[in-house]
Amino acid sequence: MDLGSELTMAIENRAFLQVCRGEKPERTPVWIMRQAGRYLPEYREVRKRVSFEQLCRTPELCAQVTVQPIDRLGVDAAILFSDILVVFDALGVDVRFEPGPQVEHPVRSHADVARLRDGDPDVELVYVMDAVRACKRALADRVPLIGFCGAPFTILSYLVEGGSSRDFEHTKRLMYAEPVLFGRLLERITELLCKYLAGQVRAGVDAVQIFDSWAGALSPFDYRMHVLPHVRRLVSHVRSFGVPVILFARGNASLLELVAGVGADVIGVDWSIELAHAIVSVGDDKIVQGNLDPAILLGPPELIETRARALVRAGKCARGHVFNLGHGILPATDPAHARHLVEVVHDEGTYERDR
Ligand code: CP3
Repeated sequence: MDLGSELTMAIENRAFLQVCRGEKPERTPVWIMRQAGRYLPEYREVRKRVSFEQLCRTPELCAQVTVQPIDRLGVDAAILFSDILVVFDALGVDVRFEPGPQVEHPVRSHADVARLRDGDPDVELVYVMDAVRACKRALADRVPLIGFCGAPFTILSYLVEGGSSRDFEHTKRLMYAEPVLFGRLLERITELLCKYLAGQVRAGVDAVQIFDSWAGALSPFDYRMHVLPHVRRLVSHVRSFGVPVILFARGNASLLELVAGVGADVIGVDWSIELAHAIVSVGDDKIVQGNLDPAILLGPPELIETRARALVRAGKCARGHVFNLGHGILPATDPAHARHLVEVVHDEGTYERDR
């Protein structure tokens, strides 16, 4: 079933989808991880009226903040406003953002796993599907819409740690001391994520990014043995619907070779490695996304320009390059600097120059 290519024909700005599909775009496309968020005054304005949790559950407001960076920055793709942890609603797990995520009852034992609910994401997360539809209406085919989820291990780590973690003690204890339970839990999460992303695709997303934000907590051996098979299953499930998949595993560049073998359309690269080296690791037949250090946007416009131009040129050694930061934009960023970045990338990345 190929829902993707036909439905996305109408989109005006096709550069992002062209690169994802291995075609040559007119110019290097750019979007910014966490482009809808606290660095934007218009986002903070919305947040004065509603909590983050309430915002995620109000489709019309999600659409409003999803479009904010399209209008202000001129990026080539929108990303659905939501959070990777909303899937906990389908598992019957309470999470609050204070402002970092706090899980009321972390899941660490057989009994905890047995208590998880088996909710249908089309029902329990219908507000996300409604948000996708609201975003598509609000975008009116100006740019493609990226849907997303957390990768199985990253979701598991929040479930088991109960929040963000430095050393992933509980997660790793489960993995080493109770590998069967660990595997069963990852399988359940993967199952849920497959259904969840299928729902997002049916609701209209044009591409999907899978965030493995905490993959770097694992050694390559353990990532390959315990985690990779689940990621592979999720990626191939989503690709079977015909939408491109970006896989972004953060925190350990030595995982890149493994990640490149999973079969995603685009490999996300964090800022800890030179893009040129990342391209060597994954192979120059691969499409990459990244990887400017988000903190560079705190520097002066001239520095942003020099670094961005160099990165666009480095990206031309890959089969395709989606320009992005190497992690989420920092809340202290001046939106004018983000806009400057987008303009510089578009200027340097115009393919006329190469002819
Ligand atoms: O613009 C976009 O990228 C879309 C929206 C989006 C959010 N979170 C909104 C958000 C996306 C794609 C995410 C993904 C996400 N959420 C990840 C993966 C990306 C990454 O950063 O590695 C992770 C690990 C989370 C979990 C999460 N959500 C944390 C740890 C926090 C608190 C710390 C922080 O970075 O703010 C959140 C809250 C959150 N998610 C906010 C936003 C805009 C801030 C909430 C607010 O106060 O308004």
